[in-house]
Amino acid sequence: MKRHILIFALTMFSSVLNAQSLNLIPYPQKVTELSSTFQVKKGAWLYSSNAGYKRELNYLNSELGSKGNNKQLLKIIVDPFIGKPGSYQLNTTAKKISITAADKAGVFNATITLLQLYRSAKSNGTYVTLPGLRITDEPRYEWRGFMLDESRHFFGKQTVKNLLNWMAFYKLNRFHWHLTDAQGWRVEIKKYPLLTKVGGIGNFTDSTATAQYYTQQDIKEIVAYAKRRNIEVVPEFDMPGHATAANKAYPQYSGGKVTGFDDFTFNPGKEITFQFVADVLKELKPLFPDGRIHIGGDEVFMGIKAWDNNQDVKALMTEKGFTDKQQAEAYFLKRVADTVTKLGYKVMCWDEAVAANLPVNNVIINWWRQNKPEALTQALSSGYQVILSPRLPMYFDFVQDSTHVSGRKWDGRYNTYLDVYHFPENSLTKDVYENKKVIGVQANLWTETVVTKNRLYYLVFPRMAALAESGWTIGDSKNDVLFNSSLKAHLDYYKAAGIYYYNPFNPTENIEAVDVKPKAGAQD
Ligand code: ACM
Repeated sequence: MKRHILIFALTMFSSVLNAQSLNLIPYPQKVTELSSTFQVKKGAWLYSSNAGYKRELNYLNSELGSKGNNKQLLKIIVDPFIGKPGSYQLNTTAKKISITAADKAGVFNATITLLQLYRSAKSNGTYVTLPGLRITDEPRYEWRGFMLDESRHFFGKQTVKNLLNWMAFYKLNRFHWHLTDAQGWRVEIKKYPLLTKVGGIGNFTDSTATAQYYTQQDIKEIVAYAKRRNIEVVPEFDMPGHATAANKAYPQYSGGKVTGFDDFTFNPGKEITFQFVADVLKELKPLFPDGRIHIGGDEVFMGIKAWDNNQDVKALMTEKGFTDKQQAEAYFLKRVADTVTKLGYKVMCWDEAVAANLPVNNVIINWWRQNKPEALTQALSSGYQVILSPRLPMYFDFVQDSTHVSGRKWDGRYNTYLDVYHFPENSLTKDVYENKKVIGVQANLWTETVVTKNRLYYLVFPRMAALAESGWTIGDSKNDVLFNSSLKAHLDYYKAAGIYYYNPFNPTENIEAVDVKPKAGAQD
């Protein structure tokens, strides 16, 4: 009996050891190792006799640095019955590499697994030896997102493309782009040129910085770039709060002034405000063909006091019989959600919008206030689709190590890479994270403290790798030993790519990148 246990333990141990050397993040649902190997000629162009997967294979070949003078056949079959969207099987046997996938996203996911295997495989200079494997894999969640705030600080196309490359490497498939906020308007709208000319001036640390923004051509370029990487892009036009930059450009839409939050809101009492918003949404629609627009809805309370002195809002409240300002806020969000819906797009909102009673069928809620679990419960019981992006542990502007000084904390708590890795099982109950209405997870990088690329990368890496597992891997399959081992190999990839990352295994390797010194007591 004892012998059996010992043999079983040894077998488990050796399979974990082998799995470790695959260095796959996110780790697939099921991996069977074969005794055979598959040799890929270095630089060979991997092709399929099926021309329908050119985009996916072109991306794989470009990442592999394939030259095209040698060719190697990849067998690809798409069969929607093998599993849910994004699922795939990848076999590397002695004679061939074959992919069977549920859809194009599944083919893409399989090629990324292949890419990661190739990166960590042994090579003799002429051939790369891939381990023989049978992999059966599927995503835990449909929505595996990352949000970048470019209002507080603007990073530009090259940095965004680099982040999209890494998102693709981690099978993350939704890029939420926070393009408007108090500190800057970052997307060209031709009908309202002052939005960028005036609203694009300044950022969180320098209110006079030259206007920075994306032209519509830039946006198209980024969206197409993301598409080649199986990433959908959702723009956020934040309203009716966080609208200061827009109001700086067009003061006629401002909801008014209140100490500390001048012109923070739009004016829900004026018809021209809704016309302006509808015009902007109409221009955003063709730029973002993936079919979703995020309309914000967060933290309106910070500037809503201005509405007390606003004659238009007062008249609106009298006309509609509203007894408090939150009803005017809900009225605004409802009208805007209705406009987005009429454009044929899905509406996304932060969780405050649950109180606005928006139509359930066409709205997706981002739950971010971990201190308000009732907002999540209410969103789910109302029947909204929900994305989990609570501050703890999904805000990447929070510090990730007890010694770090710059970045946020919440009651002294912060977000280590392992907190991200173990989300959502470490924070929520099974009935919540297995609820069919929970469509995914998302990390958000707010950039009040982020001026330089080094700091941006320092906050994102390696937590983006942990985010990949949060969105992909079921809780029972998570294994710190396996993940840490793979992550060490990935830190080498970051280093080779010139990424300034935080090394949790050797925290002094790169020191904390501090762009904005925190004010005393201002961390929460
Ligand atoms: C948020 O952090 N205001 C969504």
